[in-house]
Order: sequence, then C-alpha cells, then structure tokens
Amino acid sequence: MLTASTRMKTLIIRAALLTLGLFANSSLEAAPQPRATNEVVFADFEAADWGAWAATGSAFGKGPAPGTLTNQQPVTGFLGRGFVNSYVSGDKSTGTLASPEFTITQPYLNFLIGGGNRPGKVCINLVIDGKVMESATGHESERLHWHTWSLFPFLRKKAHLQIVDDFSGGWGHLNIDHITFSDQPRVHRYFNDPITHAMTSVAEATPKAESDPTRPIFHFMSPANWMNDPNGPIYFGGYYHIYYQFNPYGDQWGHMHWGHARSRDLVYWKHLPIALWPSKELGEDHVFSGCATTNNKGEFLAFYTSIGQGKGAGDYAEQWVGIGDAHGNTFKKHPGNPILSEKLHGDVKVYDWRDPFIFQEGGKTFLVCGGNLNRGKEAVVLLYEALKADLSEWRYRGVLFTHPDAAIKNIECPNFFKLGDHWVLLISPLGKAEYFTGAFDATAGKFTAKERGLMDHGDDYYAPNSMEDPQGRRVLWGWVRGFKPNRGWNGCLTLARIVSVDPDGHVRQAPAPELQKLRGQPFTLSALELNSVTNSIQNIRGETLEIEAEFEPGTAKTFGLRLRASDDGAQSVNVTYDGTTLTAAGVKARLELPASEKTLNLHIFIDRSVIEVYANGRACLTKVIYPGERDLGLGVFASGGSAKLKSFTAWPLKSIAMDR
Ligand code: FRU
Repeated sequence: MLTASTRMKTLIIRAALLTLGLFANSSLEAAPQPRATNEVVFADFEAADWGAWAATGSAFGKGPAPGTLTNQQPVTGFLGRGFVNSYVSGDKSTGTLASPEFTITQPYLNFLIGGGNRPGKVCINLVIDGKVMESATGHESERLHWHTWSLFPFLRKKAHLQIVDDFSGGWGHLNIDHITFSDQPRVHRYFNDPITHAMTSVAEATPKAESDPTRPIFHFMSPANWMNDPNGPIYFGGYYHIYYQFNPYGDQWGHMHWGHARSRDLVYWKHLPIALWPSKELGEDHVFSGCATTNNKGEFLAFYTSIGQGKGAGDYAEQWVGIGDAHGNTFKKHPGNPILSEKLHGDVKVYDWRDPFIFQEGGKTFLVCGGNLNRGKEAVVLLYEALKADLSEWRYRGVLFTHPDAAIKNIECPNFFKLGDHWVLLISPLGKAEYFTGAFDATAGKFTAKERGLMDHGDDYYAPNSMEDPQGRRVLWGWVRGFKPNRGWNGCLTLARIVSVDPDGHVRQAPAPELQKLRGQPFTLSALELNSVTNSIQNIRGETLEIEAEFEPGTAKTFGLRLRASDDGAQSVNVTYDGTTLTAAGVKARLELPASEKTLNLHIFIDRSVIEVYANGRACLTKVIYPGERDLGLGVFASGGSAKLKSFTAWPLKSIAMDR
C-alpha cells in the first residue's frame, strides 16, 4: 500500500477538462479556466502492517486498525477497511507514526482526520527540514472529515508526515485515513474555484521564477508572477500581514488580486493563498490597492478600489469592502458594496479615484483616497469621515491636499498618519514617491504641508504603504519595480523600513532591526586613509550582502564604494558622495548633511538585482541592477584628494526563501 509504486498505480485523473497548454501560455488576458484533477494516493492504510511508515510507542499498534477498536465509540468516515487509529490500548497509550520522506510536487495534501482536539499533542504534522510547517488535530469526534493543507509554499521541498499521540487523557487519540496529493483541495476552506485556478497558475510559474539567478533572496515577493503595491499592511492575531497587488496569471500587470503573507518578525514570511479576488459574479474585474482595519464589531475589513468589468479605472471606480475571516486569510464581499461611491462627491467628478487608506483622529475615523480633478489639472487627496462605527457609511469632507506642482497629474496610494507632532502624507504621484509633513485640522478637514521630500530617490521605487505596529513603530514597505520581463516573476517589496520624523519635519528611514537576524559572519576593516585609489576589499564578496560604512570626507572630490565589481575592476555598481549629491547605481540624490553630522554613514543592502541604500537615514535610494553574474568584488575609494574610511562591516545575508 504505502510505497512509491502503488502511488503511481493509484494515480487518478478524474476529469481532464482542459489542456495544460492553455495555462502554460497564460498571459495578460488569459482567463482563469477550470482545471484537470490529478490525485495521487500517498497512503490508504489498507495493508496489515505499516509498510514504509515507522511507528514508536504503543498507541498505533502493528498496523492500520481494521475499524473501531475495543471500547471505542463507533468510528465512521474512513475509506475502505483500514485507517490509522491511535486508540490501541485506549486513550492512555502514546506514540508516533512517521511516513517515509517524499518530495512535494502537488499543491494540496488532502486527508481524513478524526479523534481528539489537542493541537500539538494529538496531531498530524508536515515536517520539512526538521520543522513542523503544518499541523492538524481532530475535533472530538470519531467521525473522520476531510482536511486540506495548501502546499504551495513548499513545492519541490522534501518532507515527511508525522502522526503524534502524546496525550493520555480523554480524547487522547487520533484517526487518519486516505492521504492524497492533489491539484485540488478537498476542503475549500480558503478557496473558491477561481482561487484554486489562480493558485495553480502561480504554482506552475514558480519553478521558472525560482530558477532565475537574478531573483532577490531576502526581499519579500510573491511566489511567482507579477506583484506591485503593498496593500493593507496590519498587525493582527499575532502576525504582521502583508497583502499585495498580484497577477496570478502572468508576470505582467493584469487580473489584480490581493496576494497574502504573514510574518511574526518582519523578516520571514509565510505565503498564504490569495485573500481577495475580483468577484466576476458581482461584475468586478480588478481588486486594486487599499488598506486593512477592524471595526467596532471586531470585523477585519479590507477597503479597496473595485474596478468593474469593462470600466476604465480613470473614469469609473468604487471603494469596496471585504469582510475577513478570523485570520484575515480570505475576504467575503460586504453586502453594502459599494461602501463609497462617486455619489458622495455630488457634482464634483473625481478621476482615478482609488487606493483608500484609513486613519483615526480625535475619536473619529477618516479615510483618504487619491485621484485628480479637472482631468489631471489638480492632483488631489480626498478626505472622508465614517458616519458609523462599523465603517459601512461615509461622508465626503472635501479635498485634503492639492499637489503644489502643476506638472503632477494624479496622486495614487495616499497614506496619512501622525508621527510625534507631525502629520505625514505619503503620495505616489506617478513619479517618485513623496512625503509632505505638516499640520492636520480635523475640524476643517485640511492638511497644511510645511516640508516635503522624496521617500526614495530611485525610479524603481513606488506606492509605499505603512502601518503602526504594537511597538508603536511606523513600518513601511515600497514596491520595487523595473525588473527585466519574462522571468516568471516581476516585482518585490523593499525591506521593512521604520519611519520617523525629525524635529524639523523631515522623514527619516531605517531598515527594521529585525533584519539583522539574516546576517552571517561579519567582515570588518579597520580605519583606512583613502588617497585617489581604489582599495579592493578582499575576503568578502557576494551578491547578497549588507554593508555599513562610515566615511569622513576630506579633500576628496568624491569618495565611496564600488560594489559588484568585476575582477579587473572595469565594471562596478558605485555608491559615491561628493558633499552635495549621493549617487548610487547611476541615480542621483541631493544630500546635504547638517554641520552636526561630520560623517557619511552608508547602510547598503545588495540582493542580486536589487540595491537599497540608506545614507545617514536621510536619503534612501532603491535601484534594480543587473551586474555581471560573476562580478562579486568590493572596493572603497576616494578620488581627487583624500577621505577616511572610519569603519566598515559587511555581512553575507541569508535567504528568507523557506517561508517566502
Ligand atoms: C499604484 C497603482 C494603484 C492601483 C494599483 C493597481 O501602483 O496604480 O493606484 O490601485 O496600482 O494595481
């Protein structure tokens, strides 16, 4: 029964509804299609012994149980004759049963489960690299029910199953039967058919995405295919959740869904199935960007821009709400949608009306959206106020902010929050993402901006979105764009950044300290005088590094670092400073240091095709780079005079791939 050869024998193709070719070619306009079902029985427990499975202790006996055991209430719901039953010698017996190792090639594991509800004690576990990645327990019933695990995050990994009975009291036993790998879930806990199809498409693209040597290893990204803006970041139920604009059907923009992942620490992320999708039956074509929040009923809500079928986003948009389950894993559409419609604006026509963001002030809940008036003549942020504590009704309060530059035609993805004494408005004005800081008068519904600046100086950075975490920190991610096409993936997020505001109203950003756990062995250099030469740094090379370097400017016209340098020094990605301008990978950022800051502190992350530079926490610069694959060297230099390297530390950084 439980061997690889029988697995092959029991391969069932239940319905071949479509040729796979349609999916392999899924492109921007390929519509989701129903799929064939491939189910492979891994264990049906019909033999007299455990075969290749290994039992310890006394709970599982010598082989599968041929039905209900002595003194057990009648067991039902298993298939065939035999099943795993740890009631051998009653509830008090304990033990384990481990499967042989297998490689995960299908996106779902389905099995029947019954018995005690004792998480972690009476359970079946999926074990990968010694870690329990999934676990299920019974439900205090002798009837076996179907249970499904999504294996998308673990495709191609080696794993084994472990059935555990580590509880001797009442309901100290578990029943398991008919373990199958499949391209279909038996239990549509988080899924409907469109999502099953979407996730299958993602799984198909994953091998290509993962084999790309330019794909970053410690920046968050979707398992495969296209992603753009971070959506609805929130701390909920003990996890950081990030949702994101996601096209499950290809590596170009299209078919906007909300992908989903969660993290305990802002570093390692677990991918979860798509959480929010366009409800075709309700006329939706795309679910655009938005935010997540909770209301007075304790409901977990996603506010997002809904784009209807055949409607241009510039002229027709509505703000919809999805009501989440208890884990924020899947959202049902609110019966009152659209929760905000254009009617709120009366005679005013708002174009490109999108990207809701919610905040509180003075005991009230407000929402901002981006857009433009007079067909691009005024780029604006619009303000709304909740009329009900369940956030189901809103009032238009007027224009919160108009962009001062006439060249700006539209505003996307506004974020509006208070940090210390300052109100901060973040906007994505189709060009580089900006911040404005100033004062907010909630009574008048007006924001008066005093200072402004760029969130990031790179063109490859856009649509930042932020949240407040339980430590009171403002955590922010941007979308990194500008990657080469046709690689099975496109887009990632910046590292989690902690945002603060200087007393003078300027935004500062630093990578979240949690990221230090990715560091390998540090390599340090002692202080070094730099004199119109490039000193190549031996002993540390690589395409995934973190670097902290402190420079004291001297007479040099310019100084800095050469990264991803070729062995002959002819090629490199440079980060340089000349006293007024920081240049990284060819992108210039104006950076004048106050008299009190005598040194330039560079904090740099190189992640294959992405470089993020933080200079004195004042200027951030994100850029997509494609250096030669073998150009892995480092150097430090000054030209046109001297400068001092005061300190230098570099760390190789580890991958977050296991949970990515
Ligand atoms: C910003 C943006 C948003 C929109 C989303 C669509 O990149 O254009 O305004 O909601 O992307 O994917």
